[in-house]
Amino acid sequence: MRTSPTPTLDDATRGRILFGGDYNPEQWPEETWQEDVRLMKEAGVNSVTVGVFSWARIEPRPGAREFGWLDRLMDLLHEHGVGVVLATPTSAPPPWLGRLHPETLPRDEDGQTIWWGSRQQFAHSSEVYRRHAAAITEDLAARYAGHPALTMWHINNEYCTYDFGDEAARAFRAWLHRRYETVDALNTAWGTNFWGQRYDTFDEIVPPRRVQYLHNPAQVLDFKRFTSDALLECYLAERDIVRRHTPHIPVTTNFMPFWQGQDAWAWADQEDVVSVDVYPDPRDRLGGQYGALIHDMTRSQARGGPWAIMEQAAGAVNWRPVNHPRPRGLNRLWSLQAVARGADAVCYFQWRQSRQGAEKFHSGMLSHAGPEGRTFQEVKRIGAELARLGEHVAGTCVEGADVAVLLDWNAWWASGQNGRLSAEIDYPEVVRAWHRALWEAHTTVSFAHPGHDLSGYRLVVVPQLHLLTDAAADNLVAYVRGGGTLVSGFLTGVADEDDRVRPGGMDARLRDLFGIRTLHEWWPLDAGETVGAEGFRGTLWSEEIEAADADSVIPYRDGELDGCPAVLRKGRAWYFSTLPEPEALRILLARIAAQAGVRPPLDALPDGVEAVRRGGLLFLLNHGREPVTVPVPGSHRDLLTGAHLAEEAELGRYGAVVLQEAP
Ligand code: GAL
Repeated sequence: MRTSPTPTLDDATRGRILFGGDYNPEQWPEETWQEDVRLMKEAGVNSVTVGVFSWARIEPRPGAREFGWLDRLMDLLHEHGVGVVLATPTSAPPPWLGRLHPETLPRDEDGQTIWWGSRQQFAHSSEVYRRHAAAITEDLAARYAGHPALTMWHINNEYCTYDFGDEAARAFRAWLHRRYETVDALNTAWGTNFWGQRYDTFDEIVPPRRVQYLHNPAQVLDFKRFTSDALLECYLAERDIVRRHTPHIPVTTNFMPFWQGQDAWAWADQEDVVSVDVYPDPRDRLGGQYGALIHDMTRSQARGGPWAIMEQAAGAVNWRPVNHPRPRGLNRLWSLQAVARGADAVCYFQWRQSRQGAEKFHSGMLSHAGPEGRTFQEVKRIGAELARLGEHVAGTCVEGADVAVLLDWNAWWASGQNGRLSAEIDYPEVVRAWHRALWEAHTTVSFAHPGHDLSGYRLVVVPQLHLLTDAAADNLVAYVRGGGTLVSGFLTGVADEDDRVRPGGMDARLRDLFGIRTLHEWWPLDAGETVGAEGFRGTLWSEEIEAADADSVIPYRDGELDGCPAVLRKGRAWYFSTLPEPEALRILLARIAAQAGVRPPLDALPDGVEAVRRGGLLFLLNHGREPVTVPVPGSHRDLLTGAHLAEEAELGRYGAVVLQEAP
């Protein structure tokens, strides 16, 4: 856990698990608020997020301040024991801001204005936007600094907008100037001799707007870096304002998981609380694995300490082509799963389902069916169970995460562009495939940045790191030299920090590490195509490699690559030049993990049962629809029901237990 002088999630939870959600009472007459707080109490809600989109309500015209309704709301919530995560409303500027100051509206790559009438229509680099955002943040912070309901600040909401407009272009140039100092250095980094793109001054540079054919990939990479930094500046400006008023109140901003627009590693370092919005598809049979991945990622961004689910759905969302409800029990299972994986806050979008607006078919904790509805009844049960768990788990850490999966936004930005050999390679999907193999093998994992200290892990898995800095390559080599086991997937170490291809198509240090003499050719596979290798079939990609001093290889047994190594090992360093089909990857990886001394939290776990240890407790979660019996040596008490269990646990469909050793 982090030890810092700034406040942490513990300051908001105070030994409980936060349970609640976004609360948008502006949508309802004030009489409804009374029913809300009554039902919140009934459901065990102890935290709501207020004001996320309330700018137009607080400042209906320039300079106005209408805080009366928010005063009444904060008081009411406090009277009923509900804490408030208070949001700065800056993700939804009021219409007047765009009308009076069109430069606050972002532009897309065609130069088209992103208008008001939805949300998030702010140009991150607009001086005027930033000034107005700072002013309302200042007044909000000053007004509620001493309010007893305030437990946490929530800055903006899911920072995510790209802007290709003129002010963003100026800011991009300034950012490039700081990064490269001279235009010659930029020309070198971007390789502008190609296609005669040489710049004579920084003034000639524009964001990667609509062009005739392919963009310069280094320009696109830098634009993504810049966008993440520009949005971060917006966050920091507001964070610093609220911090000045309330140094004791933790600050967060909610991440969209696996969102390209933010380098979450860099952002997380600037947050007191790392929070995320997670929406697995209830129809996805691997929805539980997706949830686990996001939980592991967020916990790792929180440096292993407690983190927050700021939003999840109690039922259906409304933004997939078809939106399914959560079947009975699934909401509870996924909520407990988050707690197992380190969450100290389990919150939803949103408390009461809207009757109007774009999200009226998105579920709420209190759905259109009302308090008698199944959704609310299940929410009540979850609230009661989390209240029971709080004293045992809040503030504790997940145990036994001996495996690190490396993840890097720069590598993602560089690998996802046009002009690559295969559009079938999707970085999040590749990461997900490797995480799935570990999850199905019941392995508890963390995520790490390639620059992090890796020495504490028994096994490091690199699903793919197309771009690898010199320092990161050295870090991987040093990790293996220091006794660690490394497994890398294909397309790792292809390019340097500027997305310049490394001589030989792969960093020489890595080739040496894996025992590769020559990487002759990349052989991408078509969608659905597989390639045979000894004992498994590979997907997505294959490579024509010549081994040098690898200790062993698993060869391809098919077509053009027959006999070439599909997988190589040199000492404790493994390289996979294809992505084995899921079962094969699970078996191979489980074997390597076992050799590296990685142990699952419990032996003999049935398929589909997730086991995680946190705070001395054992969480067992059945992601299957069929009941299972899990052998659990010894005698335990299930903290959810109080039941005593001897030697085994029965888990029904989507069942869960949280076991404490009984004396
Ligand atoms: C999130 C957003 C919420 C709500 C939710 C719906 O992205 O922060 O305001 O729109 O999605 O799933």
